[in-house]
Amino acid sequence: MSEVDKVGRYFRDHARQFDSIYEGKTRIGRWLDRRFRSSIFIRYALTFEHAGNLEGKSVLDIGCGPGRYSVEFAHRKAARVLGVDISDEMIEIAKGEARKEGVEDGCEFRLADIFSARLQETFDVVIAMGVFDYVREPQTLLVPMREYCKPGGKVMASFPKWDLIRAPIRRWRYKIKNCPVYYYTHERTAEVLTSAGLGDQIIKDIPGRGQDWFVCCQV
Ligand SMILES: C[S@@+](CC[C@H](N)C(=O)[O-])C[C@H]1O[C@@H](n2cnc3c(N)ncnc32)[C@H](O)[C@@H]1O
Repeated sequence: MSEVDKVGRYFRDHARQFDSIYEGKTRIGRWLDRRFRSSIFIRYALTFEHAGNLEGKSVLDIGCGPGRYSVEFAHRKAARVLGVDISDEMIEIAKGEARKEGVEDGCEFRLADIFSARLQETFDVVIAMGVFDYVREPQTLLVPMREYCKPGGKVMASFPKWDLIRAPIRRWRYKIKNCPVYYYTHERTAEVLTSAGLGDQIIKDIPGRGQDWFVCCQV
């Protein structure tokens, strides 16, 4: 089984569990997520802070998962939002979320592997949040992200931060479930962005162990 298949299967089996981080669960579950998975909420806030005015803009949401970002882009009046994910279960949740929020006309969700998707359009904003964790060779995603982005547009992503305690534990937990995970130092994040031709970089350290680097690049 290829690595992409392993990741797709993992997120088919864990789609609802992942989405429940955003809402749902018990009060204690929510408290634990806010405490130990705060990166998910911080990177979400940073994305919209850095996206600026979205009215009339087009957005590509790579690894859209349950569509929480796509739906918010549509709420903020983006003219076109395309969410792509390799997990059929995630795509179903995303479509349901867009329907529930009354933005289904503004969002398209497509079941596809981004590495072979060959999209025939470019976008003002291209994001991949929580996706580089599962990508062995970052250039294979960063270069298409730059190419899918219009000149003057923005590429935003999160990169999982290497640390000596939580990163190995998480890697081991995912290994048991047959899903690969990769990590980045600040230096390595800057290096992979630069070699993908993404020079105008903001790299923000989301504080805490086992959190992310938030990245925003002007194309
Ligand atoms: C941790 S989830 C993040 C979902 C969403 N971006 C968010 O932050 O709420 C990662 C998502 O990336 C998707 N993904 C991973 N590799 C992919 C690929 N090669 N093509 C498309 N989607 C992919 C997974 O299926 C999963 O839904």
